[in-house]
Amino acid sequence: MSSLIKSVRGRRVWDSRGRPTVEAEITLADGRTARAIAPAGASTGSAEAIDRRDGGAAFGGLDVQGALQAVNGEIAALLAGRDVLRQDELDAALVALDGTPNKARLGGNALVATSLAIAHAAAVAQRLPLWRHLGAGRNDVFLPLPEVQIFGGGAHAGRRVDVQDFMIIAVGATDYAQALEWTAEVYRAAGRLMTEAGLLAGVADEGGWWPAFASNEAALDFLLRAIERAGYTPGQDVAISLDIAATDFGRGGRYRLARDAREIDSDGLAEMLLGWLARYPIVAIEDPLAEDDGEGLRKFTTAAGSRVEVVADDFICTSATRISAAAALGACNTALIKPNQAGTVSETLAALRAAQDAGWQSIVSARSGESEDVSVVHLAVGWGAKQLKVGSFARSERMAKWNEGLRIAEALGQGGGDLPPRESFPWGR
Ligand code: PGA
Ligand code: ZN
Repeated sequence: MSSLIKSVRGRRVWDSRGRPTVEAEITLADGRTARAIAPAGASTGSAEAIDRRDGGAAFGGLDVQGALQAVNGEIAALLAGRDVLRQDELDAALVALDGTPNKARLGGNALVATSLAIAHAAAVAQRLPLWRHLGAGRNDVFLPLPEVQIFGGGAHAGRRVDVQDFMIIAVGATDYAQALEWTAEVYRAAGRLMTEAGLLAGVADEGGWWPAFASNEAALDFLLRAIERAGYTPGQDVAISLDIAATDFGRGGRYRLARDAREIDSDGLAEMLLGWLARYPIVAIEDPLAEDDGEGLRKFTTAAGSRVEVVADDFICTSATRISAAAALGACNTALIKPNQAGTVSETLAALRAAQDAGWQSIVSARSGESEDVSVVHLAVGWGAKQLKVGSFARSERMAKWNEGLRIAEALGQGGGDLPPRESFPWGR
């Protein structure tokens, strides 16, 4: 049968930051192949599947020879002769083979590349695009609403500002293609404004402008002006979203704001952010407090959760169990879904379903270390996730993903690509 695995091969390829990463390639019995590349994060949550690196001198200790040996050895032996249409079973076998709670032995990078390659191989075996294979049986297929970085900060830009991502969401766009058009105009307007102000310091890790702002608020003001300069009404056409990535500058309820040169407690940070929500057209705010500050996240969600998406990234690490626990606590109302945090496709889907069961929104997301791999777009469309976050609107590892959405829209016969109904978002209610 053509869905049986003949061989699995791991090879070292290079990511968007010039670092080694794992590519897994599956050859089916009939000779057809499918492959996937592991992404990598910089501001990682502590409960993520472990990104296994070799240490030592080469490439700053980031080589992946150990993870590749796992793919070419134990994993290849486990999967030979198995059926790629049985994703759940194969993922469970991979998790059992690893045997650790965080995929530290074989490596989360080895597992996620292999698991995604299995999904791609299943699509190839059925001669279907991946999104169609994953969405089998669904007929209300839509494109996810893009959440796009305009300014990069935090760990992605030398901590120039504390906030990691200053993003926009084209909340008023009529379809996916228009959301990208509006994003392109705002991205360009932001670049022009910064050049005029003499503040442009380059491009951050995910392609956003790397600004030399005097404060977090200055970045928000510039973003607002960029939306206006591009000809859109802030809040109505194009809204702001933020990833505070507070785990990077907070622990034990204390937060160190490098830009503003002061330390504040959990309530102080929440108060500052609630002030921003009152003054700027912000519709989503990710990791507003650190991963060890569940109580702070609960309080923040009580205060703001009816108006905006309070997005959990580090706090849940794409774990179904953690999402259910967070929902029970009332901490956050939206899940960021990153396949390499979970480690396998089935666990990623379980996390997404846990979010849906809890009445949460979900945003499928790429990482800061990316590649030409566009799997996340297919996961978002196939699984019916309403939003997609893959960094900025520049550099091919990002554009490959936005562009893939345009192809899927066309294949769906939807022209520019239908977006989820506006009422399904907090800002549309
Ligand atoms: P990372 O950042 O990929 O560097 O972890 C992305 C995010 O925090 O959402
Ligand atoms: Zn994040």
